[in-house]
Amino acid sequence: MTKSVIAIDGPAGAGKSTIAKMAAQKLGYIYIDTGAMYRAVAWRVLQEYTPPVSTEQIISVLDDIDIKLSYDENKNMRVETNGTDVSAAIRTPEVTALVSQVAAVSEVRTKMVELQRAMAKCGKVLMDGRDIGTCVLPNADLKIFLTASVEERANRRARQMKEKGYDIDVEEIKKDIIARDEADMNREISPLKKADDALLLDTTEMTIEEVLAAIVKMAQD
Ligand code: DC
Repeated sequence: MTKSVIAIDGPAGAGKSTIAKMAAQKLGYIYIDTGAMYRAVAWRVLQEYTPPVSTEQIISVLDDIDIKLSYDENKNMRVETNGTDVSAAIRTPEVTALVSQVAAVSEVRTKMVELQRAMAKCGKVLMDGRDIGTCVLPNADLKIFLTASVEERANRRARQMKEKGYDIDVEEIKKDIIARDEADMNREISPLKKADDALLLDTTEMTIEEVLAAIVKMAQD
């Protein structure tokens, strides 16, 4: 039976976005990158305030925030915040440094979860994030927890950042990943954790093609 709602969760740099986008394309599903939504909120906070920012300042941008995910003709995701294309701007180190703090605020999560559930209503969706299987879509037809060793995740992120023109040290990225894992796993609301009924996929020793094939098989089994 093909599953119509698929949830993929896992820590930073596990390859979720890359793999989820490819799997969604292969299966003909809509891909929803929920990390991009939290990043869009963090970007908006940085437009208004200079770090360090308070929880009140973060909450203040929620009133009139409008986040839209769409796809261009090459199936690349476009993220718009109040009409501005922020697809590239949400991937900067400044946004990355702030996003865990933003994602730990309950008002932010309530708003994002509401938007995500509304998006999932159209069926045939593949959503990735940290709390999709545990909180956003607890009734998903298939839940996958994608992970890899910290070293491998840091190497992958470093390669990705280099391709985008950033000259970043792998050790720095590793430190950032460990700090984000800590923050995401230990926050009070919807911490990152494998849902009891999620299938664990450790991709440390796997190629992208192997991971993709494994997920497509799980979706079609
Ligand atoms: O996957 P990513 O690196 O783009 O995610 C950005 C941040 O957003 C990450 O620190 C965790 C948070 N996040 C979350 O708390 N819940 C989600 N469903 C998705 C992302």
